[in-house]
Amino acid sequence: VSRPEWNEVEEYLSRTLVRGGPGMDAVLESIDAAGMPRIEVAPTAGKLLMLLVQIRGARRVLEIGTLAGFSTIWLARGMPDGGRLTTCEFLPEHAAVAQRNIDAAGLGDRVDIRVGAALDTLATLDGGEPYDFVFIDADKSNNVEYLKRALALTRPGAVIVMDNVIWEGTILDPASDPDAAAIRAALEFMGASPQLEATAIQTAGSKGWDGFAIAVVK
Ligand code: DHB
Ligand code: MG
Repeated sequence: VSRPEWNEVEEYLSRTLVRGGPGMDAVLESIDAAGMPRIEVAPTAGKLLMLLVQIRGARRVLEIGTLAGFSTIWLARGMPDGGRLTTCEFLPEHAAVAQRNIDAAGLGDRVDIRVGAALDTLATLDGGEPYDFVFIDADKSNNVEYLKRALALTRPGAVIVMDNVIWEGTILDPASDPDAAAIRAALEFMGASPQLEATAIQTAGSKGWDGFAIAVVK
């Protein structure tokens, strides 16, 4: 589902409010140059992530799903000096592109890219200092498991954001698509968990019809 006006409004918002941010055009060029999928968050959504990290005052950020590091850079820019971000990426080729982009953005000393299946990486993070902010944007099939791990790695007051919770509206017909079913299961987990206070917002724009779920750990 897409209407041309959604893109026009998105472009208007981007150039009026976001202006890419330093280095962001280079990140998008690196995605195209590497033949990677154009599934990064929209600039408006990236800046929302930065603002949410800032509002939370998050010093420890966890990202599940790095791709080329576009959202990683927005998240890292929201942290105060001394902040640390851990990001999980399955594919070494994507992690290499992301590392170059993060270094070019001057954030290499604050960001730690972990290559491998995120569930394996997350298991190694147990017992460390808790995270203040978690962004989940990887394979949708593991969303419920990522939420459970996020709960294990945070404490009350932490913020959890999940991308792609509308998935072109296919969440209304979970039988049509296993990812839609997994996204719906994650939303239902968020709604039912006594440890989470959650909502979701729909977005329409350059990424079609989609949205973010946002939750606070109780
Ligand atoms: C896809 C994944 C994403 O995280 C996204 O934001 C958009 C699309 C995908 O796998 O198609
Ligand atoms: Mg996404």
